[in-house]
Amino acid sequence: MIITKKHGLPENFLWGASTSAYQVEGANLSHGKGPSVQDIKTVPAGTSELDVCADFYHRYAEDIALMAEMGFKTFRFSIAWSRVLPEGTGRVNQEGIDFYNNVINECLKYGIEPLVTMFHFDLPAALEKKGGWSRRESVDEFVEFAKLLYTNYGDRVKYWLTINEQNMLTLVGDVIGTCNMEGVTNKYKKLYQENHHMLLAQAKAMKLLHEMCPGAKIGPAPNISLVYPATCKPKDVLAAQNFNAIRNWLYLDMAVYGRYNDLVWKFLEEHDAIPVIEAGDMDIMAQAKPDFIGFNYYNTATVEWDDSPVAVTDSEKKDQQSAGIEPGVYKAYPNPNLLRTEFGWEIDPDGFRATIREMYSRYHLPMIVTENGLGAYDKLTEDGKVHDDYRIEYLRKHIEQIKLAADEGAEMMGYCPWSAIDLVSTHEGITKRYGFIYVNRDEFDMKDLARYRKDSFYWYKKVIETNGEDL
Ligand code: BG6
Repeated sequence: MIITKKHGLPENFLWGASTSAYQVEGANLSHGKGPSVQDIKTVPAGTSELDVCADFYHRYAEDIALMAEMGFKTFRFSIAWSRVLPEGTGRVNQEGIDFYNNVINECLKYGIEPLVTMFHFDLPAALEKKGGWSRRESVDEFVEFAKLLYTNYGDRVKYWLTINEQNMLTLVGDVIGTCNMEGVTNKYKKLYQENHHMLLAQAKAMKLLHEMCPGAKIGPAPNISLVYPATCKPKDVLAAQNFNAIRNWLYLDMAVYGRYNDLVWKFLEEHDAIPVIEAGDMDIMAQAKPDFIGFNYYNTATVEWDDSPVAVTDSEKKDQQSAGIEPGVYKAYPNPNLLRTEFGWEIDPDGFRATIREMYSRYHLPMIVTENGLGAYDKLTEDGKVHDDYRIEYLRKHIEQIKLAADEGAEMMGYCPWSAIDLVSTHEGITKRYGFIYVNRDEFDMKDLARYRKDSFYWYKKVIETNGEDL
């Protein structure tokens, strides 16, 4: 028998870009929306509140028209849970339901497939006040939310993502404004119990979609970075395996195979943090099957072995892309071979391919890149241009690696860089820009919020037109 393998990007490759509700919409406490955890956090010093963001709530039609002009095949956006369910459960805000109906219909008008993230860092504040994800009830609350979405949008939305970066909610929730550690004595116990509830909620939501909307597809959306050992010392390799398991594989092993990763299980035992798992939980996890894997990739991580006594704490600034330290398990190591962005994030296109290879060999599912991109202080020139050649360079090098990975056999479904349009960063304000479309505002001066096409806008249009041939 001759086996032929398909190579390269498929004809129907989903080119697009991403946003998230609390970072782009504005109107955070109006039009019937309840507050989310993002609205009750103290915003980081020097950054603005979330009442305006990019004003997408009012300008979605203009923005989607610009995405259509770039030739988007898909648009990834999230639904603010507390916009449709202001208290997180129970009462529905019809105006919120209508808003996302309008966004979906606007996309479809241009032949853009909506790629909907159900939950992106914005748990309703009303649920957080009751204890958030640490309560068992949170599983049913998420399923109620999922059912509301499938009922209202399932006739038109084919592609769904469950939880954005569940791994970052667990590892750096304090930085992205999603977790409250007040009065907590064993942080691992709290965080990994919440994590178990999210994993179960995700599994139930995946099953429910398949029952309610046959033909629709769903997957997780963790932030996956392959972890390198700092050197070829065997102990550094062990440290890299530890962090790979804790950062990456725990989430995908559970989403795809419905089982806890062994190294993580051992780590949890050692920290007295084995979650309460009720009878039947693991059966549900095993039965739920994602159709694809969505994943965010910004760069790889590098760690070394760490022999410090448990008392050593992590003094380094931590965010989604820094490994930090877990005493006796791994310790972040700055990779001397990589350049960095203005905001200190390492840049590693080869590591993108290495990450894709590793994911494909572990899970053998189609993959869609749900985020990838470069944050920078873009400048609007007097004649209304933004010369973001550094962003073009970053994206070009990453797309090259997707093509190579696809040639090697990985099933790549699509590419949605962060972000379609400038929006508010998780903790560094709106002047850390990622978009193809410039939004005319500063951190505190809202100006006219007019939209400008950056140089990357025209470049990406050409990339999409040629299905990635002309980079
Ligand atoms: C991802 C998140 O971690 O990175 C996004 O899913 C986020 O919400 C993006 O905005 C870029 O990170 P930052 O911290 O620069 O906004």
